[in-house]
Amino acid sequence: METNSGSEKRSVLILLTSHWISMAGVALVTLAGISWLFALPQQLGGRVSNPYIGLLLFGAIPAVFFAGLALIPVGLALARRRVAAHMAEIPDRRAAWRRAGTFFAVMTCANLVIGSQLSYRAVQHMDTSQFCGQTCHVMQPEFTAHMQPPHQAVNCADCHIVPGAAGWLHAKMAGMNQLVGVVLNNYPRPIESALESNKLVSSADTCEHCHSREKVIGPRLKVIQKYKDDQANTPIETVLLMHVGGGSSGGIHGAHVGPGVRIRYAAADKKRQTIPWVEYENTESQEKRDYLVPNTKPEALSALPVFEMQCVDCHNRAAHSFETAEAAIDRAIAAGEIDRSLPFVKKTGQELLKAAYSSQDEATRKIQSGLEDFYQKNYGEVWARQSNGVQRAGRALAAIYNRNVFPDLKVTWGTYPNNLGHMDAPGCFRCHDDSHSTNDKKTIAQDCSGCHDLLADEESSPAILKTLGLDTTPKGNQ
Ligand code: HEC
Ligand code: HEC
Ligand code: HEC
Ligand code: HEC
Ligand code: HEC
Repeated sequence: METNSGSEKRSVLILLTSHWISMAGVALVTLAGISWLFALPQQLGGRVSNPYIGLLLFGAIPAVFFAGLALIPVGLALARRRVAAHMAEIPDRRAAWRRAGTFFAVMTCANLVIGSQLSYRAVQHMDTSQFCGQTCHVMQPEFTAHMQPPHQAVNCADCHIVPGAAGWLHAKMAGMNQLVGVVLNNYPRPIESALESNKLVSSADTCEHCHSREKVIGPRLKVIQKYKDDQANTPIETVLLMHVGGGSSGGIHGAHVGPGVRIRYAAADKKRQTIPWVEYENTESQEKRDYLVPNTKPEALSALPVFEMQCVDCHNRAAHSFETAEAAIDRAIAAGEIDRSLPFVKKTGQELLKAAYSSQDEATRKIQSGLEDFYQKNYGEVWARQSNGVQRAGRALAAIYNRNVFPDLKVTWGTYPNNLGHMDAPGCFRCHDDSHSTNDKKTIAQDCSGCHDLLADEESSPAILKTLGLDTTPKGNQ
């Protein structure tokens, strides 16, 4: 009995050690299994805080595990003869084969459980914002900008991947391409915007899953708090009544994405900033018009790519809105992060933000010390009284820099234009320039009040806000 079961156990060993390929397979499966056990506490904790551990856990370990699993039968097949010869020497061959069979069945079940767990977690992990944004350093600017409202809680995958298995696979293939670019260090800096590289998923598959194009939004009041670059950082306000409209109510949304409306355009550059041809079609009113910039050559036009207008043609920076230095400081002052009572803090802060630095570390140091120097040199009294406030403002400025400028990736102020407006980039005026015209001289209008009523333009305490009972001047900043 003793010797018998001993030799049966040996039979399992013989099978596994019969060929070096099977042995390598066993080694890999064990290695992956043990690594996985060590990493288990991380997984049970729910979130994986370090993106590289995430990549290891959900990428490398499953890969090793499945490679090992595949190698075992290959080795067995290659060593068929030798195994049969060994088996012949064992007294109770039937029992030995049965034992070996049971061993493999149990192992396979266990491996399937571990394996499916690993691959399921891997798929899940690859859809998190953390995997997309942090594993890959290249996407740091987008990851950082995505942390700002309103879409901070929306996963990258919801806007970048067509729902369904095919879309997922497509995205992962594209991801592999990008990974190669990162490894070979030959990806473009700055990386192309998604519209520019023509890789953005259609808004119908992303935005419109959460926002309805039929929704009537109507007018929207927009109050923009700003500060002058004078000594007092005087507060001023711009007040706009945006005619967003929607559905068949017209307005901005109704005119471009209302029922029956289809607008197509040709772009002369990859960033789609120059638009020589626009076609308006309304299947409900049976209207169709072609707008052309004067002196456009038909041959040149026919070579250009044509796009159909969708949400992201205006809301292109919905999730990754990089700020202008001016607007970011205004917001920080309004939020009380930068003390408005510091003389010339708007002007000085802006200059410090726009200077050139070689890295974020250098910028952080020089912006903070630059601001302190300014007050020490020019406003000794302010420095004596408010050094804490100056230091706090310095930190706020450095934070603004670090979420907008990424010197190593060549992302700086204005790298990614925002098309929703017309002040910092051409935006709406790419088409609404009174120059695009039909044969019978109708143009795409630049009439200010078609899009918004400008109720106040950089005014101090505008009357309209008083009328509306909106005193927006932040407390403590009077
Ligand atoms: C609400 C939708 C939305 C979400 C969520 C979103 N993106 Fe984007 N993303 C966009 C749009 C729209 C563009 C195209 C911008 C353009 O072409 O101007 C874009 C562009 C990009 C680009 C190209 C470079 C650029 O700045 O244009 C990268 C990289 C990117 N996103 C990564 C991410 C990552 C990583 C996440 C998650 C942390 C994410 N995105 C989440 C909508 C989204
Ligand atoms: C997974 C759902 C989801 C997707 C996909 C999505 N959004 Fe949103 N969006 C939201 C939520 C939630 C808010 C926040 C609403 C709030 O704060 O009141 C929001 C807010 C917005 C706002 C600001 C509204 C405001 O009051 O300021 C705009 C504009 C917007 N989304 C446009 C887009 C565009 C364009 C896309 C496609 C590129 C998109 N969204 C994709 C869920 C989504
Ligand atoms: C022609 C440009 C344009 C197109 C196309 C467009 N929008 Fe807008 N949208 C705007 C403007 C301008 C505003 C007002 C922005 C503001 O108030 O700052 C706006 C406002 C919004 C808001 C915020 C409304 C609120 O409650 O304040 C949402 C959400 C939104 N758009 C979603 C979408 C979606 C989804 C699509 C595609 C179906 C779309 N937009 C297409 C220009 C556009
Ligand atoms: C790709 C070109 C294009 C861009 C970019 C564009 N529009 Fe338009 N817009 C059109 C066309 C075409 C019409 C319809 C003209 C017609 O009726 O023949 C239109 C009509 C409108 C109308 C209806 C009133 C009018 O003047 O006819 C409003 C309001 C409007 N657009 C606002 C905006 C805003 C706001 C933006 C920027 C956020 C914007 N548009 C960006 C092409 C564009
Ligand atoms: C085709 C539509 C359209 C037309 C025409 C238009 N605007 Fe605008 N305007 C916008 C949009 C969209 C914004 C951005 C609102 C936002 O910040 O979300 C804007 C913003 C502004 C702002 C505020 C900018 C800031 O950040 O302080 C001012 C001022 C302004 N427009 C003035 C004008 C004037 C003056 C005209 C007439 C020459 C005009 N606009 C014509 C669409 C338009």
